[in-house]
Order: sequence, then C-alpha cells, then structure tokens
Amino acid sequence: AKNVGILAMEIYFPPTCVQQEALEAHDGASKGKYTIGLGQDCMAFCTEVEDVISMSLTAVTSLLEKYKIDPKQIGRLEVGSETVIDKSKSIKTFLMQIFEKCGNTDIEGVDSTNACYGGTAALFNCVNWVESSSWDGRYGIVVCTDSAVYAKGPARPTGGAAAIAMLIGPDAPIAFESKFRGSHMSHAYDFYKPNLASEYPVVDGKLSQTCYLMALDNCYKYFCHKYEKLEGKQFSLSDADYFVFHSPYNKLVQKSFSRLLFNDFLRNASSVDDIAKEKLSPFSTLTGDESYQSRDLEKASQQVSKPLYDAKVLPTTLIPKQIGNMYTASLYAAFASLIHNKHSELAGKRVILFSYGSGLTATMFSLRLQEGQYPFSLSNIATVMNLTGKLKSRLEFPPDEFVETLKLMEHRYGAKDFVTSKDCSLLSPGTYYLTEVDSMYRRFYAKK
Ligand code: ACO
Repeated sequence: AKNVGILAMEIYFPPTCVQQEALEAHDGASKGKYTIGLGQDCMAFCTEVEDVISMSLTAVTSLLEKYKIDPKQIGRLEVGSETVIDKSKSIKTFLMQIFEKCGNTDIEGVDSTNACYGGTAALFNCVNWVESSSWDGRYGIVVCTDSAVYAKGPARPTGGAAAIAMLIGPDAPIAFESKFRGSHMSHAYDFYKPNLASEYPVVDGKLSQTCYLMALDNCYKYFCHKYEKLEGKQFSLSDADYFVFHSPYNKLVQKSFSRLLFNDFLRNASSVDDIAKEKLSPFSTLTGDESYQSRDLEKASQQVSKPLYDAKVLPTTLIPKQIGNMYTASLYAAFASLIHNKHSELAGKRVILFSYGSGLTATMFSLRLQEGQYPFSLSNIATVMNLTGKLKSRLEFPPDEFVETLKLMEHRYGAKDFVTSKDCSLLSPGTYYLTEVDSMYRRFYAKK
C-alpha cells in the first residue's frame, strides 16, 4: 500500500461550553489570565448525558454516514483515550455495536492509553497495519476521545472535551512520511491519574510545562537527525509549511514554536535570519536547564518567531482555543483546524505534528498533503467537519452551572444504579447520549 494515511475525518464536541473570560472572573483570577495568559477563548465540557463513549459513538457513526462507508469495509478500529470508564473493557468494544448490527465482527484493535499520546499510538498502529503483510485490504478507523476535567484550581481552565474519528487507508490525501519521525520517552511524574476513584489527574503544572518542552526539543533533535541522514541536508523550520502541536492551552503552543526556532538557531540552521540571530545570541551559552527557566529567552524567541508563528501555526489553533485541551484529540483537533482554514491551499504541503503525553511519551512526525479525490479530498473533509456550524450552534453556560455540572459528575464517576435526565434538547440530531447505568454498572446509550 502506498501513501498510507488519513482519508477522512470527523470531529464531535459537546455543544455545552463556558467562556474563559467569564470563568476568569468567576474564579477570581486576574483579568486576562485565562484569555491572554493561557491564550484560551472558550472551553467545552460534557454534561451528565455525555461521556467519552457517547462522543466516540457519535463521531464514528457520523464518519461512516457522511463519507458513505459501509461498516463491513472496516477491518481495524483503534481507540486512544485517557478517560478511564472501565479498567478492563475497552471503549473499542462499545463502538462494536455499530459494526455488529451490520454483521461485521471481524475487526482488530483495542484501546491505547498514555495520557494525551494514546491517539497517536492508535494512529501509528493503524497506519502500520495498512502498511503490513497482515493488512486485508479494508480500512482502519482511529478514534481519539477524551473529557479533560481538573479539580478546582489553576488547572481547571485547561479542560475540554471532544472525539475525533479518522479513516485510515492507502492513497490518502493526508499521507505519512513514515521515515521522518523522532520520539522521546522517559519516566516522569508531571501529570498522572493514580486515584482510580477520581476522574481528576494529579498534576504538577510547572513540571509538565518543562517536560513538554524538553520532549519537544528531543523529538525535534531526533527528527532532524533522521531527516538529515535520509535527505543529506539540514532540516529547519523552512522545510515544513505548518507545525501542529498537542495543545493543552495556546500559550504553550506559542512557546513551543519559538523553542523550535531557538533550536534552529543553536544548530545554525539556514532558516534563522540575521535579526533572530542577533536577538538570540545572548542565550547561546545557556545550559539546557537554564534555557527552560529563562524568561528573557522566552520573550526574545517568541518575539522573533512571531511572523513565522502567524504563518505556520496560527491556522492550527482555532479548535484548541475554542474547545480547550481534548487530551488525545487535541493534536488532531489542531490539525482539523488547519484543514478547515487552509484546505484549498494545502496540496503538496508538508505538515509536522508534535504529540505529547505526560508520564511521558512524545513523537514528532511528518505528513504530506494532496487534494485527493472526493469523498476523500481535503475540501470535502473541511465540509464534513463543518467547524463553523458546530461552533456556532453551541450554548454558553454561566461558570456556576459549569461548576455544578462538574460536581454532579464527581458523584457519578464510578457510580452505578442511576438514570440520567435523558435531556438531549441541546444535542444535535444523530448525537448519542447516556441514559442509564444499571446495578451491574452496565451503561446504556440512546441516539437523538
Ligand atoms: N493577564 C495576562 N497574562 C497573565 C495574567 C493576566 N492577568 N495573569 C497571569 N498571566 C500569565 C502568566 O504570566 C503565565 O504566562 P507565562 O507562562 O507566559 O508567564 C500564564 O498567564 C499562566 O499563569 P501562571 O501563574 O503560570 O498559571 P498557573 O500556575 O496558575 O497555571 C498551568 C497554569 C500550570 C498551565 C495550569 O493551568 C495547569 O496545571 N494546567 C494543566 C497542566 C497542563 O496542561 N500542562 C501542559 C502539558 S501536559 C498536558 O497536556 C496535560
């Protein structure tokens, strides 16, 4: 199989959201802390009728319907998620309901978990399957689904929720350049979920930021090495048209891109212009550790990278800013934003993606885009995802109702023997929602 990659995409996010500006005021944070400080506009959240299973049921069903894919044509289904609903039964098995109905139970794949990286692991598995000798000619589907919620405190505004479904196969408009890849994996306690009775993570915010940036540096280093070995020339920011980052909040994405420019400067790569060289030269002797702590470096590199950021990163930021951190779906929602904003100009372009999952696991990888043929074309993907329509039809909740919802969800997490309100009035037709969890913890869903 050639040009294996993403043929089609669909995204689902809850229609319920809270404005960051309102949340800021409600939390007693200083004005601008969430909107400018974190760079976030709005945050989506699940109410008691939605969860990672209902969202993924919606995304997969819609993907199959909108691209007219017969469920029998699917041979592999992989899910990435870090939202634990069951310690044994995979989310993938819930999604099998869609395929069993059509008589297809011959579908490989289960769930992959490591913080926000599970979706990337699932995607690599699926792409590898299509490229392997065990491929049977059918499509794969990768689903990233998460509800990101944090305990009261500074991390709470960095939540979010969404599910993304991607159809995987050969001759894709979004093809992997599989040789160009760099990973960095190590042991860290930056963000983890050791308390199985709670949906909330334990998070060391400052450490997680540094871990993220260190992983980025290392992935970029390995990525550049591999590129240079294969292509016989240096890689620099000018060799890719867009850079897409896992996006816990936009400020970290801004810092990340400027960090890549600083890396280019240190390696003396061709893309760094004279002004940048001059502004960054005071920092050339910093040790690695010092460089993560230096506010002056952060400021200088963000300033010199601004024009490049606007061209190569800004078009990827729409959904992460509007929805918040979607954990496994975050990176792919950023990529979806790029397709939404630039679909008519993307043919021939190279896009670099950086996936990060706390704990920690990270990979930088490369995609090459083509317009493709309907229904698997970039313009049709943009049409199907209908980001403008989905964003417009949302309902803003006041912060105290958001907080009330989270309180209710705290009680419901891991609980049995309850029925939900079954109130689906805010959901659009075709959306799945949770109706009941019975005395045996079995979950039941309905479709609006
Ligand atoms: N106006 C403008 N900017 C402001 C204001 C204001 N009124 N107040 C603060 N800021 C800025 C700060 O200067 C800071 O920006 P900087 O980093 O450029 O200096 C930013 O807002 C955040 O302020 P902090 O005081 O650093 O924020 P705090 O410590 O309260 O929390 C954090 C931020 C650590 C990101 C927290 O939300 C968190 O723990 N989130 C979850 C962890 C996370 O997402 N980590 C990322 C990688 S791991 C993952 O993906 C889960």
